Amino acid sequence: MTNLLRIPSMFSPASYEADEIYTLTIYFIVAASVVMLVVIGLLIYVVVKFRAKPGDGEPQQFTGNKVVESFMIGIPTLLVIGFFFLTARTMTHVLPPDADRQPDVVITGHQFWWEARYPGTKAIVANEIHLPVGRRILMHIAASDVIHNWWVPELGPKMDAIPGRTNHLWVTIRKPGVYEGACSEFCGAQHAWMRIRVVAQSEDDYRQWLNGRGQNAVQSTDVAAKTGAAFFNRQTCGSCHRIRGTSAQGNVGPDLTHFASRKTMLAGMMPNNRENLHRWLHDPQAVKPGSLMPRFIYPKDSINVLVAYLSTLK
Ligand code: CUA
Repeated sequence: MTNLLRIPSMFSPASYEADEIYTLTIYFIVAASVVMLVVIGLLIYVVVKFRAKPGDGEPQQFTGNKVVESFMIGIPTLLVIGFFFLTARTMTHVLPPDADRQPDVVITGHQFWWEARYPGTKAIVANEIHLPVGRRILMHIAASDVIHNWWVPELGPKMDAIPGRTNHLWVTIRKPGVYEGACSEFCGAQHAWMRIRVVAQSEDDYRQWLNGRGQNAVQSTDVAAKTGAAFFNRQTCGSCHRIRGTSAQGNVGPDLTHFASRKTMLAGMMPNNRENLHRWLHDPQAVKPGSLMPRFIYPKDSINVLVAYLSTLK
């Protein structure tokens, strides 16, 4: 199976918040390395210099030395106090209160995919979440079923997505690009395939995208697609999925209004193409065992027209 994802690293920060965490991490690593080198250095020095030689008696006893003890207690205490304040400062920079501001995007974790709504617009998308660069975005993070965890390492801290509670995150992305992440709290059989893709865009591109996502689904004139649309509406698909502008108004599964505009499907599991879509609709449980999409036994022709329909939903 093609893995579309680059391995993301918190050591290549791409947002103000990730920068702050990165800097603090570097301080920690430097301080810990210095302590380790000093300890190992002293240990080697002592072992070599004071090695027992034949004929030596009981070594000189050495307890209660005030100078040595104040170093041994003082240095770790100063380090802990210093890092306490550095950490507290970083936390207030990275995650200030949300100030009752309307969020720019509301993220909801589901078994096993991510939904993003954009308040003030009709846009609802899944897994491929677009955000603008250059300004501070407020994200609300929630969950519909079990606890999930939002984490895009290059963009900042992790945040738990907890049913019945709304957490928040701030993110100020520096440059356009695609940032990968994943659910970071075990949430069930397909936890590992609950990827996140954040597409960071310039303000203009983002506005244009958001405008597009707010539109209703296109009505294709293609015969197969029209047959597929009719089949979709006759079946129970619309009880779980929404295709805005049609009678399908479910909100259990991912919104499919602009399904074909996504590069990946099944929360980043595979490229979004006709072949994979066909496999998925034929037997979802074989493709992603434990996902909530039931297996419907459809004749091959029906799957073909469904694929044709879904592929037109740009
Ligand atoms: Cu959702 Cu792990």
